Amino acid sequence: MSALALDIGTYTIKAISAKPGKKIEIERMVEIFNPLGVAIASDEALSQKLIDIIDPLITDNKLPRTDVRLSLPETVVSTKLIELPVLSDAELASAIGWQAEQHIPIPPDQLSLQYQVLYRPAKDKQNEEKMRVLLVGTHKDIVEKYTNVFLSLGIEPKLLETQMLSVLRALDMTAEEPPTLVVQMGASSTQMAMVYQGELRFITSQMTGGQSLTQVLEKQINLNKQQAEEYKRTYGLDPQQFQGKVRETLLPVISIFINEIKKAMTFFVNQNPGVSAQRILLSGGPTLLPGLVQHITQELGAEVLVAAPFSQALGAVPEGNHPTWTVCVGLLMREEV
Ligand SMILES: Nc1ncnc2c1ncn2[C@@H]1O[C@H](COP(=O)(O)OP(=O)(O)OP(=O)(O)O)[C@@H](O)[C@H]1O
Ligand SMILES: [Mg+2]
Repeated sequence: MSALALDIGTYTIKAISAKPGKKIEIERMVEIFNPLGVAIASDEALSQKLIDIIDPLITDNKLPRTDVRLSLPETVVSTKLIELPVLSDAELASAIGWQAEQHIPIPPDQLSLQYQVLYRPAKDKQNEEKMRVLLVGTHKDIVEKYTNVFLSLGIEPKLLETQMLSVLRALDMTAEEPPTLVVQMGASSTQMAMVYQGELRFITSQMTGGQSLTQVLEKQINLNKQQAEEYKRTYGLDPQQFQGKVRETLLPVISIFINEIKKAMTFFVNQNPGVSAQRILLSGGPTLLPGLVQHITQELGAEVLVAAPFSQALGAVPEGNHPTWTVCVGLLMREEV
């Protein structure tokens, strides 16, 4: 049966209908601008506006309504990786609430918590090694607001997971791959996740993204929003275009971004002395900025890859813009919901 994955971004809303599973079979893909500029409605009026956008999106495109999967933007989620002495599943279940209180900055009565054991040392190593557990906390209010939009359309979402988990599933990295910093960029925020030995090591989140690039062009080259967007996509970091002016204007913002990458890499190396981190995997719309991959490669001397979420997909795979669709593909690749 077909499923619908929805990625409500602050710039565009993306939808894929497909047969879900490890090899998804794509039926339909739709991307529309999000005129609200927010992913989560903070009040009733905004909620209604979001409903008025999503209703026709689903109806006009005849998208499935029974297996609907949603991702939560990392900006409203608190994700923490913690280390604990080895506990059984039952012991962990009773200890987890207290652990969450220590690590997740959401009051217990407001907290909706999910957790996952990422690493449990083998029997003979349990004295020297700890287990690693991923905590994902959200405000109950926020989850409710998010799902209410769908409930009022007669849709009960089957899955609501944090965006980074969808992204990591779509990238399908193996334990043999070198340490990789996955950078999921959006219009208004960027998330980074370090993956080593096939296991998530940490997640960070910043409130900058593609929009900051458009804004700096608007202000400094005196363009309107639409022109700035166009210049960004056409000229990007190319020094030959427009006398290198667009590049020059974008570089200060890009270097803030590169610094964040450096910080994340250094943090990982400090945590894992002797392991070198040399690989970055970019995903999300801003990945398409002309010259970005080359620039980061040069600046960091690292290997920079671009997400290819459709590498296993069948059916109506689109021709371009693949890194934009990572979240939707990951939602669809989940086998059990
Ligand atoms: N070809 C391109 N070159 C440069 N930037 C691009 C290109 N295509 C898209 N972008 C930028 O990528 C951003 C949109 O990416 P994406 O669709 O992943 O964001 P979003 O999911 O809507 O945002 P968020 O996840 O932050 O809520 C916009 O800032 C847009 O300007
Ligand atoms: Mg996004």
